[in-house]
Amino acid sequence: MKKVQLTETVLRDANQSLMATRLPYADYEGILSDMDKAGYYSVECWGGATFDSCLRYLNEDPWERLRGLRKNLPNTRLQMLLRGQNLLGYKHYHDDVVEKFIELSIKNGIDVIRIFDALNDFRNIETALNATKKYAKEKTIASGCISYTQSPVHTVDKYIEMCKELKTMGFDTICLKDMAGTMSPYEAEHLIKGIKDAIGDMTLILHTHCTTGMAYMTITKAIESGIDVIDTAASCFSGGTSQPSTETMFYALQQYGIETGLNEDIINKVNDYFKPVKQKYIDNGQLNPKSLATDAQALVYKVPGGMLSNMIANLTDMHAMDKFDAALAEIPKVRADLGYPPLVTPLSQMVGNQAVTNVLIGERYKNISKEVKNYIKGEYGIAPAPIDPELSKKVLGDAEPVDCRVEDQKRTGEDFAAAKEALGDLCRCEEDLMSYICYPDQTLKFLKDRKAQEENEAVYTIEEM
Ligand code: CO
Repeated sequence: MKKVQLTETVLRDANQSLMATRLPYADYEGILSDMDKAGYYSVECWGGATFDSCLRYLNEDPWERLRGLRKNLPNTRLQMLLRGQNLLGYKHYHDDVVEKFIELSIKNGIDVIRIFDALNDFRNIETALNATKKYAKEKTIASGCISYTQSPVHTVDKYIEMCKELKTMGFDTICLKDMAGTMSPYEAEHLIKGIKDAIGDMTLILHTHCTTGMAYMTITKAIESGIDVIDTAASCFSGGTSQPSTETMFYALQQYGIETGLNEDIINKVNDYFKPVKQKYIDNGQLNPKSLATDAQALVYKVPGGMLSNMIANLTDMHAMDKFDAALAEIPKVRADLGYPPLVTPLSQMVGNQAVTNVLIGERYKNISKEVKNYIKGEYGIAPAPIDPELSKKVLGDAEPVDCRVEDQKRTGEDFAAAKEALGDLCRCEEDLMSYICYPDQTLKFLKDRKAQEENEAVYTIEEM
C-alpha cells in the first residue's frame, strides 16, 4: 500500500505563521500525551522563531520547553527548524557555537533537524549537518532543506542539482520548503518527479503554506508525483498563512487508499483541544484574522506567512498600515536588486524591513539597514543572482565582497568565554550560555527574572513553614 506520512506543525509553524509564535507551552502541554499517539511522521515543535519568542515574549526557557515536549511525546519524532549557520538567530555564528547548539538540541530531545540556508548556499549548512551526524542518536535525522522560490535563476534543473548535492553531502532526507506558498501544482509535478528520479528512494518532504490558496492542489499533485511526507496543521490552526489541514488531508488520502498511519480519533481530539486556544488569541487580538485569509497577491510578492503577519504587526505599531500595499509592492523590487534571495528568515525580515523603510522614507535606499549592507558585502553567503551593481557599489565602494566561511570557521571559544563572563552566577548550564550567545539581552533579562523569582519563592517557602 502506498504511504504518505504527515508532520504536524501546530506547535511551531502554524503558531509562527498565524500568531507570531506567541503560543506558550502551558497552552498545549495538556494535549501532548494524546498527540504522542496520533501516528505523525514527526511533530514540528521547536526551532524557527520559538526560541526567540520564548525568551523575548513568553518568559520561558526554550530548553525547558524542549525537555517538556520530550517528556510528554516520548514516542514521537520531535522536529526543529534550524537556519544553518544562523541557528535560530539572524546572523552567522562561529562553527564551534553551531556544533554546541546541535549537541544540546539533540541532548535535550530533538530527533529531526531540518536545516536550511536562506540563500541555498550549502556551505552554510555543512557545519550543522556534520554536527548532527557527530551527536546523532538512534532516531536522529538530518534533513537537508531547500528554500523554494521562483525567479529567473531558480529553474527545475537548478533544484534537481541542489537535491543531488544534499544527497552527496550526506543528508538523510530532503525537504522542499515553500515558505511563501507560491509553488503551483504544475511546478510541484515537474519538480518532484524530476527530484525523485534524481535521488532515488531517499525520503522527500514538501513543506508549503496556504497563503496563496494553492497548497491543497499543490500537495495533491505532489502526492501523485511521489512525495513521501507532507506538513500539515490541526485544522483550526490551518489555512491562511499556515499549512493545509491535517484532518482534511487524512480524509482525502484515505479515499485514495494511501496509508498515513494516523489515528483519526486522536487527530480530531487534537483539533478539538486547540479550538478554544485559537479563540482566546482571536479574542485578545494576537491572532489577526487577516492571517487566515487567502491572498493570491503573494504570488506576485512571494511573501511567506510569518513575514506578512510581522509586517502587519510592525506597521500597526507605527500607525502606518496605510502604507501596507505600497510596502508589499516594494518587496519584489528590493528582492530583484538583491539577486533574488528566497524570502525566508533572516532574508525575509531584511528584505521586508528594507522595503518598509524605502516606502516610509519615500526614497529608495536612502537608509540601508546594517543587515542588508552585510548581505551585500557577502557575509550571508553567495546571492542566487548578481546584486544590482549600483546598489552594490553604494555599499561596497571599492572594497571586494567577503567570504562568509572564513569568519565562521574560527573556533576560538570566544563566544563562550564572553557569555560566561557576562552571565556570572546567573549561568547554571551550557544551555544558559547558548541562549545568551543567541539572544544576549533577552537571556540576561530572563535569567535575572528567574533568579529573582526563585529568591522570592525561597522566602515564601520558609515563611510558610
Ligand atoms: Co513554513
